Amino acid sequence: MSNFRIAPSILSADFACLGDEVRAVEAAGADMIHFDVMDNHYVPNLTIGPMVCAAIRPHVKIPIDVHLMVSPVDRIIEDFAKAGADLITFHPEASAHVDRSLQLIRDAGCRAGLVLNPATPLGYLDHVMDRLDMILLMSVNPGFGGQSFIESTIPKLRAVRARIDAHQNAGGSRIRLEVDGGVKVDNIGRIAKAGADTFVAGSAVFSAPDPDGGYRGVIGRMREALAEASP
Ligand code: DX5
Ligand code: ZN
Repeated sequence: MSNFRIAPSILSADFACLGDEVRAVEAAGADMIHFDVMDNHYVPNLTIGPMVCAAIRPHVKIPIDVHLMVSPVDRIIEDFAKAGADLITFHPEASAHVDRSLQLIRDAGCRAGLVLNPATPLGYLDHVMDRLDMILLMSVNPGFGGQSFIESTIPKLRAVRARIDAHQNAGGSRIRLEVDGGVKVDNIGRIAKAGADTFVAGSAVFSAPDPDGGYRGVIGRMREALAEASP
């Protein structure tokens, strides 16, 4: 199996039948379910919480990747851990104590990650690399699906890839590099070349028309583009 992971974001799924939707993307070859949590406070939109995470958990075997766009962060961590989240990421600006929030996630038995917005500097990573299992770079401003990929994410990915490689070469544990926003079949190869190994795709997957093979078709074309991009 390749090192690349594709994580469809259910933000663009049909919320009236989420169980069917997550089963369908798992059957179509998804590696993870990306679960976008918005609070109408940290971001200007309101979505789904731990009860919905617990409701979909029995429908799939693949990990659930919970992306918290909420402030405060800490109180909701345990609820998501109990609801079956495997990985929990949050935005450092949304937490008063980033190191504590990262510890809470691992203490709850989940893998932990930080999410950096397009204009958020990499300095937030400086003192917490050993607490991270994932770094997620936003390639759109958080809040909505269906936005266009922001190009400045490409050099930022290269810079984070260099930090992760240095950390791992110095004996640090593995950190995945995820990208979220505007990922499509026609740009995923470039994004992989810049250093990402995990790809969130919402509208690209869930809007895929049936004549083009639906979810399986688009995930397959993404894998082909990734295979072409890998050395
Ligand atoms: C945006 C969310 C994304 C979003 C991506 O705030 O974090 O996960 O669903 O959607 P697309 O792939 O349509 O840009
Ligand atoms: Zn997301």
